[in-house]
Amino acid sequence: MKKAIITSALPYANGEIHLGHVASTYLPADITTRFLKLSGTEAYYICASDDYGTPILIQAEKEKKTPEEYVKVWNKRDYDDFTAFGIGFDLFYRTSSSENIAFVQDVFKKLMENGHIYEQEIIQFYCKVDKKFLPDRYVIGRCPYCKAEEQYSDLCEKCGRVPQEIEEPKCSICKSPPTKEKTKHYFFKLTNFVNELNEWLAGDSYLQKDVKKYVQNWIKDGLVDWDITRDITWGVPIPLEAAKGQVFYGWFDNHLAYISSALKFLNDKGIDGKEFWNSADIYHFIGKDIVYHHYLFLPAMRLGIKKEYKLPDYIPTRGHLMLQSKKISKSRNWYIGLKDFLQIYPSDYLRFYLTLITPYSQDDLNFDWDEFAARINSELIGNIGNFVNRALGFTKKSTGGVVPSTDGLDSADTEAQDKIKNLVNEMTPLMEENNLDRALKKILEFSAYFNQYFQKKEPWKGGVGTNNCIFISVHAVRSIAIALYPFLPESSQRIWSQLNLAGNVSKQPWHSMSEIAIKSGHNLGEASPLFKKVESTDIQVHKSKLGQ
Ligand code: 2FM
Ligand code: ZN
Repeated sequence: MKKAIITSALPYANGEIHLGHVASTYLPADITTRFLKLSGTEAYYICASDDYGTPILIQAEKEKKTPEEYVKVWNKRDYDDFTAFGIGFDLFYRTSSSENIAFVQDVFKKLMENGHIYEQEIIQFYCKVDKKFLPDRYVIGRCPYCKAEEQYSDLCEKCGRVPQEIEEPKCSICKSPPTKEKTKHYFFKLTNFVNELNEWLAGDSYLQKDVKKYVQNWIKDGLVDWDITRDITWGVPIPLEAAKGQVFYGWFDNHLAYISSALKFLNDKGIDGKEFWNSADIYHFIGKDIVYHHYLFLPAMRLGIKKEYKLPDYIPTRGHLMLQSKKISKSRNWYIGLKDFLQIYPSDYLRFYLTLITPYSQDDLNFDWDEFAARINSELIGNIGNFVNRALGFTKKSTGGVVPSTDGLDSADTEAQDKIKNLVNEMTPLMEENNLDRALKKILEFSAYFNQYFQKKEPWKGGVGTNNCIFISVHAVRSIAIALYPFLPESSQRIWSQLNLAGNVSKQPWHSMSEIAIKSGHNLGEASPLFKKVESTDIQVHKSKLGQ
């Protein structure tokens, strides 16, 4: 049996999940996992909250909570919001788990033994006003590479690189220029891995070509060793006497939670976690802002422990979601919270729309309220909903819901049956190549074809071939239910129930979407409309809430 572990970028435990998070990572990862599970792969979707880092510590202090209490609240809230969106994690754990702490410390010791860690006294920004060292986000300034202003010292959001030293630094709390103080830090020798990283990138793999190309260019421009120490109290403690009071940088520990959480999940199930990891396909779904971390730090650290855990096979990387053509920004209140959205529309509406607008590339996407309404109304409801309801509703009316037997198929019937038999062959490569938007469009094409087939056959006239039309159309509905499951699990199950077929749609083999499997004489369940139209007056209200 094939195996797979799927992860998506771990959300920081300090704010609500919004539409920008889900479009590029959680939703494609969930669709892929559901597809793999139907396809007979032993697949597990593992995620966790990213609990460490200075911003979380400061925010917890502001709210007069311990950081542990603070992250616990967000871990639960995130999990609840994801679940409401139909994201089916097998485990949603946390980077602050005892398992991750032990794992990270162990990896650090191994990296040290293997000669990939060194100590160095460094000068660190310090704010005399706030009386703190100022790591990462606490210093803002100009990116030394692309010259973008107001960038964090640990990541330039404009060019995606990690600046070695930010220009014209300012304390992000009080905006005063920081002073510099000495402190001893540990460094990870990223430069030890130039050859191995180049080999990995150049090798045969499923990594996206365009992403590989610019990572290769970063390597050509020269890598720098990586300061993995932070002078704060919230983080995985560095397991050395000399480093008392210091913790690891969040990006040293967070991606290791992909592994430690998977091991916890598998070991709890009585499966040898390490063995499973190393014989599985490993997928890390990410947004393009964290390519540097996933294509350089993460593989280098796994190489540094001699591939005790294998490197990823897939790092599906997608672009950022814009909202009404403007960059999403929580601080400027330009975003839509996932929870708020799901209080207005069903999760499958959002899954449908986001999948359609999200290609397998790093192009940015745009959430547009008018387009959302148009696509739900014309494609989800006008096409799929219409066909399912028409085919099942007509069968209820004309035969009392009993699936008739066929009798002398004509050429239109045979062509339609071939469409059913071929659907899996058309869908599978697209799903495997991560072209999820194109796969969903295939289902729309399939459904549009059957709307026309039904229309042309005019079964309501009760002429010759009516039974053939009903039989084949009911089967097309069945195919849609299975093919749609990874994308719209809830609606797909409702179609399955209206078909009154046994079991749960999530348990049907993927290839069975192309089978003619319903027996004549089978009784359908109740047929009722699957979806409710999105009203343009409501869309106006949503837009006006954004000030539009
Ligand atoms: O950028 C972020 O939101 C990080 N919390 C992602 C972490 S993914 C990691 F664990 F690899
Ligand atoms: Zn300050």
